[in-house]
Amino acid sequence: MRASRYFIFFYAAMGVLPILTLGIVISMLLQLSSLRIFLGFFAVDIIVFSLLGITELFYREKRIGKNTLKHEKGSYGPMNKINEIKLVIGRFSTQKKELRDSSYIIKTSRFESVLDGLIDVKQTQDPSLSVRYSCRMGICGSCGVVINGKPSLACETNINEVAKKGVVVVEPMQTQPILKDLVTDFDDFFEKHKSVEPILFRKNNKEKMAAINIYDKTQEEVNKFLPFSYCIMCGLCMDACPVVNTNPEFIGPQALAQVYRYKMDSRDQKGEERITAIDKLTGLWGCEFAGACSKACPKGVDPASAIQLLKIATAEEYMKFNNEKNEV
Ligand code: SF4
Ligand code: FES
Repeated sequence: MRASRYFIFFYAAMGVLPILTLGIVISMLLQLSSLRIFLGFFAVDIIVFSLLGITELFYREKRIGKNTLKHEKGSYGPMNKINEIKLVIGRFSTQKKELRDSSYIIKTSRFESVLDGLIDVKQTQDPSLSVRYSCRMGICGSCGVVINGKPSLACETNINEVAKKGVVVVEPMQTQPILKDLVTDFDDFFEKHKSVEPILFRKNNKEKMAAINIYDKTQEEVNKFLPFSYCIMCGLCMDACPVVNTNPEFIGPQALAQVYRYKMDSRDQKGEERITAIDKLTGLWGCEFAGACSKACPKGVDPASAIQLLKIATAEEYMKFNNEKNEV
């Protein structure tokens, strides 16, 4: 209502000056009572431009509604629409050691994420619900859950977009032990990550403590590892991977992508060691190239490609070694 009033005043004000000027000119030409002409023109101005303002406002609101629906495929509804969503949460009871579903009805606006929905449930309906999160903006990687069967970041998933007939199912990640409700234990994940030594390695011991040089890099050199350095360690790729799901010994896509990231960094001097450490069935060769890791990754890291490139690099190393052996 406030906006509409401003529009009407704006249009009325726009018309005042030219119409009053016209009134002055006509009254001077016809030598009439200028006051009456002023008042007449002023009244016409207010009516005409107010009507214009109202019409503009009407079509503007219609236009915004139309664009919104078109842009969002009609799934969220107009700006001010409140959707009612049933949130089915797979909760793990620490006492009974069993997974059970609890359902909650929440009201959501068009911009709300699944994490907003979970926080809403915790704050207004069930404070005993456990959910892990921190940044709420896809950076910390701590809100990973399975949404409608797909490993996803709760804070980056629009709840209206994934609702199927008004229902959203949220479960804890599958490959890690559940601590409570949606919170899983990342210990094994971090152990695997640590095992590949995801740090820049320098042969000179002094450099390990402090840089003794400026390590200039060309953009081309940076591009080789940059996409793989965007990993936020959310663990979604591990959860999506069918091999990790069936063989917990497999090191998994996250750690392997990090091997590739450091191998491609020209500042790193660990060399072949990085490859030989993962040249085993529970390492590089455990990957069956399902590609589910890259599909699940919210940061576009593409671990599946990294693993295949590591396989090629390993095969090349092996051929080089064989050739050298034959020459001797
Ligand atoms: S590679 Fe992607 S999905 Fe896997 S942990 Fe890193 S950010 Fe998450
Ligand atoms: S809360 Fe940080 S990534 Fe979702």
